[in-house]
Amino acid sequence: MKVFKTVDSLRKWRSDLSPEKTLGLVPTMGALHEGHLSLIRRSRDENDFCLATIFVNPTQFDRKEDLESYPNSLETDLQMLKESGCHAVFVPTSEDIYENKIASDSFDFDGLDKVMEGRYRKGHFDGVATIVRKLFLLTQPDRAYFGEKDFQQLQIIKKMVRAEKLSVEIIPCEIFREEDGLAMSSRNRRLDVQQRKEASLLYKTLKQSRELLKKGVGFEIIHNMADEAFQSNPILKLEYFEIAEIDTLATALIYDPSKKYRAFIAAFAGPVRLIDNIALN
Ligand code: PAF
Repeated sequence: MKVFKTVDSLRKWRSDLSPEKTLGLVPTMGALHEGHLSLIRRSRDENDFCLATIFVNPTQFDRKEDLESYPNSLETDLQMLKESGCHAVFVPTSEDIYENKIASDSFDFDGLDKVMEGRYRKGHFDGVATIVRKLFLLTQPDRAYFGEKDFQQLQIIKKMVRAEKLSVEIIPCEIFREEDGLAMSSRNRRLDVQQRKEASLLYKTLKQSRELLKKGVGFEIIHNMADEAFQSNPILKLEYFEIAEIDTLATALIYDPSKKYRAFIAAFAGPVRLIDNIALN
């Protein structure tokens, strides 16, 4: 596996690839887990070359503490990528990516960034779109793979790709879960034993909301159920529970069977912020 640490070396490798060969890109912030590796394997199987990137992008963090405590395990990450059959990895520095101005560009996401994560993490999606666009322009992938755990991010990236007329195909990949249902996340390794045990409540709540909807229970009652589940939990603090239509991400008030919905959740376990979502119908 090739490891590129500079934009120039990556650019050279990319320009030497034959135009008939396809390239799959898996952007990550490192601290890799099985969920990431499933994207790598899929990208490797569906393309001639698989390129991963590891870059903890400063512009998408709204809380300094979150950026500073973001887990870093580069040596293990490189080993895991190699064992998963990844062909190359790009590990740039902030200076190389942002030169001397660490700042986001601004985008119009048509309201997709005004709800849920966007409401609670100011500027987060401008930061994500800034780095993802830079990576797309630099690496010119045929396909790029993103996990559905960050479903709002996925919709925003699709929107940016359409708006910018980029030719990359965005491939959504299913959420990978631990045995108790907790969505895999780099942040999970920051949970203490008690927090880790309680963290499965996020998925339990999502699953219960899907079961209730199947039984014909209305969105408002499902919301109340989610609030109650967290009120009685001393370890987790619910930030939001939302049911939204998948294309617009607008909050759903009344069930319309012709539409597709997902339930979204964010909660704190101490300082660690966890998110998850589920398809409802
Ligand atoms: O989902 C992530 O890990 C990040 O938001 C991404 C897409 C790698 C951009 O920094």
